[in-house]
Amino acid sequence: MYRKVLLIIGACLLFSFIHNTISAQKKSLAQKVDSVLRLMTLEEKIGQLNQYNDDQSATGPVTLDNDKIGQIKRGQVGSLLNCVGVARTRNWQKVAMQSRLKIPLLFGQDVIHGYKTTFPIPLGEAASWDLEAIQQSARVAATEASASGLHWTFAPMVDIARDPRWGRVMEGAGEDPYLGSLIATARVKGFQGNHLGDLNSVMACVKHFAAYGAAIGGRDYNSVDMSDRLLWEVYLPPFKAALDAGAATFMNSFNDLNGVPATGNSYLQRTILKGKWGFKGFVVSDWGSIGEMINHGNVKDGYEAAQSAITAGCDMDMESRNYKNNLAKLVVDKKINIALINDAVKRILLKKFELGLFDDPFSYSNEAREKAVLNNPEHAKIARSVAAKSIVLLKNDNNVLPLSKNINTIAFIGPLVKSLKQNKGFWDVEVPGVDSDYIVSQWQGLKNKVGANTNLLYAKGCEIEGTNKSGFAEAIAVAKQADVVILSIGERRDMTGEAKSRSNISIPGVQEDLLKALLATGKPVVVLINSGRPLVFNYTADHATAILYTWWLGSEAGNAIADVLFGDVNPSAKLPMSFPVSVGQIPIYYSHFNTGRPALNDANRIYNSSYNDLSIFPKYEFGYGKSYTSFEYSKLQLSMKKIKQTDTIEVSVTITNSGKYDGDEVVQLYLRDRVGSIVRPIKELKDFKKIFLKAGESKTIQFRIDKQKLSFYNQQLKWVAEPGDFDLMIGSSSRDIRVKDSFELVN
Ligand code: NOJ
Repeated sequence: MYRKVLLIIGACLLFSFIHNTISAQKKSLAQKVDSVLRLMTLEEKIGQLNQYNDDQSATGPVTLDNDKIGQIKRGQVGSLLNCVGVARTRNWQKVAMQSRLKIPLLFGQDVIHGYKTTFPIPLGEAASWDLEAIQQSARVAATEASASGLHWTFAPMVDIARDPRWGRVMEGAGEDPYLGSLIATARVKGFQGNHLGDLNSVMACVKHFAAYGAAIGGRDYNSVDMSDRLLWEVYLPPFKAALDAGAATFMNSFNDLNGVPATGNSYLQRTILKGKWGFKGFVVSDWGSIGEMINHGNVKDGYEAAQSAITAGCDMDMESRNYKNNLAKLVVDKKINIALINDAVKRILLKKFELGLFDDPFSYSNEAREKAVLNNPEHAKIARSVAAKSIVLLKNDNNVLPLSKNINTIAFIGPLVKSLKQNKGFWDVEVPGVDSDYIVSQWQGLKNKVGANTNLLYAKGCEIEGTNKSGFAEAIAVAKQADVVILSIGERRDMTGEAKSRSNISIPGVQEDLLKALLATGKPVVVLINSGRPLVFNYTADHATAILYTWWLGSEAGNAIADVLFGDVNPSAKLPMSFPVSVGQIPIYYSHFNTGRPALNDANRIYNSSYNDLSIFPKYEFGYGKSYTSFEYSKLQLSMKKIKQTDTIEVSVTITNSGKYDGDEVVQLYLRDRVGSIVRPIKELKDFKKIFLKAGESKTIQFRIDKQKLSFYNQQLKWVAEPGDFDLMIGSSSRDIRVKDSFELVN
C-alpha cells in the first residue's frame, strides 16, 4: 500500500517536474524572442516577414530582383524558397550572417511526395488507407530534406477535393473529411518527427487555408462559394486535425471564400485559426497571393493589399513584395498598429528558435550527413512498400492476376512502359549533386521480377497524346506472341497538378483504341492506369481483363507494380475519391444528402434527383478496391441499441479471409443520422481498420461509437449530437455494405 502511494507521489512529482521544465523552456524561448525583437528596427522586422524565391527554380511567376544578396545582408529577408542542397543553403545562410542581427534564414520547399526518394503522389498514397505507411513516407522525406539544408516543407496539402477536373486533387487525400483528417495528422507527424529541434525534422505547412479544393468548376485558383456549415463540416476538419498534431505553419490560399480572398480573410485566419483554434505558429501567404488581392478586386493597390493581409493574420509574404514595399508606410500612416507586425515577427522568430537556428544557423548544413542520408538504401525499400500499398485493383476478371512467375511470354505495351521521369508525378525536387532522377521504370521492375524462363516483349503502341496509330500493328504482333498483355497507359505526369485543371479527364489520345486493338487478339489484357487524378475510362473499365490504378508511384514504381502483378503484394488499396462515369456527374462524392426526391436507381428517372441521360452512380465509388482474395463479414454485434449522450457503443464484427491468398482488408464503418435539424448525408465514414488476414483466417475487430461520432454542426454552428435513430453500416466500400444495424440516441 505504502509502495503504491510512494509510486503515485513519485509519478506526480516527475510529471510536475517535466511539466515545469517544458513551460520553463517555452518561457525562455518566448523571452529570447522578445529580446531579439527589442533589438530590431522596423525595417528588420518587416524583413522577417519577407520570403523570396531563390533563383534555382521557380514554382510561380518570377519577379526579377537583382539585389537579393544586398537585401539579405540588410536583414530585409526572413526566408527563401526553392533553395535546396547543403552547399547552396549554407551560402545563403552565410550572407544572412553578415546582417546586423544575424537572424538566420528559413529555407522552405515543396517537399510534397518525397525529396530525393520519390513516393506515390499524395492522393495515391491516401489510397493505401495505411496511416503508418503514410507517416513513414513523410518521415523519410523529412529526413532527406533536412539533411539537404531544408527547414520547412510546404506540405501537407489537406484540401478536400470532390472535383477531379481540379488538377491539385493529386496533392491531397481525396474527398472525405474523416480520412483526410487522419492522413493530415499522419503527414504532420511524419514531417515534424518528435520535436522541431531534431535535425531530421522539418516544419510542416498545412495548406491551403481554406477551401481551395472547392474552386468553382474545378478551375484552379477560382472562387469558392460555400455555406459556413459545409466549410466547418467538410473543409476545415483536416486543418484542425493537422493543427492538433502540432503543425508549425499554415499557408493561406489563392481563392476567395464567399467574396473575401483567403489571404486577406480575417474570419479564416484571425477568428478561426489564431482565435478559436489558438494557433501559435505562423501563416505564410501563397506565392504572390497578397498582391493578387488587387486582381480579385478586393483592394486597390499593394498598399491596401499589405494592410488587408497583415490585418487578417497573414504573417509572411511569399514573393509578392507588398509587405516589404508598404508595411513601414502603413505604420507611419497609422493604418496598422505596429503590434500586428510585432506579433507576426514573434511567431516567425519563435519557429527559428525552436528549430535551433539561433544556436547554430548551419546545423542543417552538413555535407557528410547529406550524402549519407540521400543515399540511404533503406529509403528505397520503404518507397517500394508504400508504392505497392497504393496500387488499387479495380478489376480482375477470371482472376487473371496475380500472374504466375512461370509464365512463358508477357507483352508489355504502352507509352509509359519505359518512361522514367513520368513515374515521379507532378512535384519533384531537383536535388543538386545526387541522382534525384533515380527511378525504377515499369519495364525494369518487370525485368527484375521475372525469371530467366519468361520472355518479355515490348512495343510502345502509341504516344500518350495525339492521333497517331502507326505503332498499333507492331503492338498487335507482339501481343499475339504473348500469354498475357500488360498495357501501361494514362496521363503525362504534368497533366495533373497545380494549374493543371482539365475539362476533359478521359484517357488521352488513342490509348483506349490501342486497348481495343489488343483485346481483339483475344489475349487477356491487364491495364495499368497511370494518373494523378480520377480519370474517366469507361471503355477500359468495361472491357479490360484486369485494371490496376497505379497513380504516379515514385522512385520504386516499377518494382512496386511488379510486386502486385505477381502477387508478392496482394493489393489492398481503396479509392479515396469517387471515380465518375462522366465529367457530367462532377462534383461527385459518396456522402451526399438524400434530397426530397432521391434517385435510388438508374431505372427510374422520373421526378427524382437524377440525370435523364446519365447514371447518378460513380464508375468506382469511394472506398472501392479489390484484393486477390475475398473477405466475408459476419457477426455484427452492438453492445447497446439505445444510448445516452455519455455512452459508448462497442461494435464488433468478424472478418474472414475466404479466399486463397493472405491479404489486407480495409473495413469501413459508416453512419447515417436518420433525422437531423440539418439534413445528414446518406452515409459518412466514421471509422476504419486495415487488417491483415491469412487465407482462411478470421478476426473479430472492434469499433467504438461515442457522441463525437454522432455529432455535426447545427444551424448555430454548434457541434451537437441530436437524439434519434442512426444506421450503422460496415463494408468493403461506401457502396459495398456487408453488414448493418441501427441504434438510437436518447436524451
Ligand atoms: C503555389 C502553390 O499553391 C503552393 O502550394 C506552393 O507551396 C507554392 N506555390 C510554393 O511553391
